[in-house]
Amino acid sequence: MRRRFEKLVMKAAEHHELTKEELLCILQPEDDEEKILLFKKADEVRQRYCGDDVHLRGIIEFSNICEKNCLYCGLRKDNHKLNRYRIPEEEILNAAKKAYFLGYRTIVLQSGEDSWYTVDRLCGIVRKIKQHLDVAVTLCIGERTYEEYRELRKVGADRYLLKHETANPLLYSRLHPGMLFYDRINRLKWLKELGYQVGAGNIVGLPGQSIEDLADDILFLKQMDVDMAGIGPFIPHGNTPLGKTSGGTLDLTLRVLACTRLLLPRVHLPATTAVGTLHPYGREKALQCGANVVMPNITPAKYRKDYEIYPNKICIDEEPEHCRGCIQRRIESIGRTVATDYGHSLKLNKRGA
Ligand code: SAM
Ligand code: SF4
Ligand code: FES
Repeated sequence: MRRRFEKLVMKAAEHHELTKEELLCILQPEDDEEKILLFKKADEVRQRYCGDDVHLRGIIEFSNICEKNCLYCGLRKDNHKLNRYRIPEEEILNAAKKAYFLGYRTIVLQSGEDSWYTVDRLCGIVRKIKQHLDVAVTLCIGERTYEEYRELRKVGADRYLLKHETANPLLYSRLHPGMLFYDRINRLKWLKELGYQVGAGNIVGLPGQSIEDLADDILFLKQMDVDMAGIGPFIPHGNTPLGKTSGGTLDLTLRVLACTRLLLPRVHLPATTAVGTLHPYGREKALQCGANVVMPNITPAKYRKDYEIYPNKICIDEEPEHCRGCIQRRIESIGRTVATDYGHSLKLNKRGA
């Protein structure tokens, strides 16, 4: 049995192709020795294709108002216990400026699905950031129309993160009332067509999710040939319908990350805030299992605690300057370096063309 596991990990590390049945085998190491081999090979592939640079993306959570009701998320519309906010445009721009001076070259604008932000309002914000700062802009604002995505791209948005959450269409519709997996995928295709660098990604350890579903998530990411993959553990939130279920584990998340790196060698793979929430060294561990990106929070401190997707989120009381220093030390402590470029898709050139 050991020989088969080893053979398959080597095959994935060299050719980046596996059948679903083979992927299922390497997703489930039988002992520590097998697990160490999986993580080591993923780390080697990361080194070979991405180098030792870790890309920082500064994330501004500019509105926690959401019209959707995803069963797992603390921002869902029916959570009436949350104090809702929208950050005034001036403060968003100031947060982006501060991040630029701290060395960030990517700003991620993230929010709930908040239609108060018309495409004109959003374009105004993106345009100003792009005019004044030499940064790449990533949007993570959920499902919009083709025309809205087109306008946002025209004013300079470079990337779009729209996680597919789970590649199991039935589980997807159970977790997302009124939403369809098919609509999500269509949007990912539109975004690609419009020239965005596109990120998808899944949650690990959702109630009702099987290991087969996780293999399908990885194969889906490969089939979509995404530029980035946001993969993080499910953390139950008390004020949601899934509040009493158990969450995803660090171990399973690391295995999914490692397998993703083996099959998608050039993908940008963040060590998520959620892995940092599960374990004090969760992000370092993820960076040693294939991840090459970290997304520190640069939201002005007074809003942070209200962007409560899940409880006990890290960096709630810290100012952006503090996180910047903290993350640099963490990255250097494992022998890695902080990238100074935009960190565009590894499939494009340095300027993102
Ligand atoms: N509203 C946008 C959307 O859904 O695409 C962007 C913001 S949403 C808060 C960002 C991500 O948070 C989602 O894609 C989802 O994967 C993640 N998320 C929400 N609730 C979570 C939970 N309880 N545990 C882990 N991740 C969660
Ligand atoms: Fe809203 Fe996004 Fe949370 Fe779903 S995951 S409830 S769309 S913020
Ligand atoms: Fe925010 Fe460490 S990254 S405190």
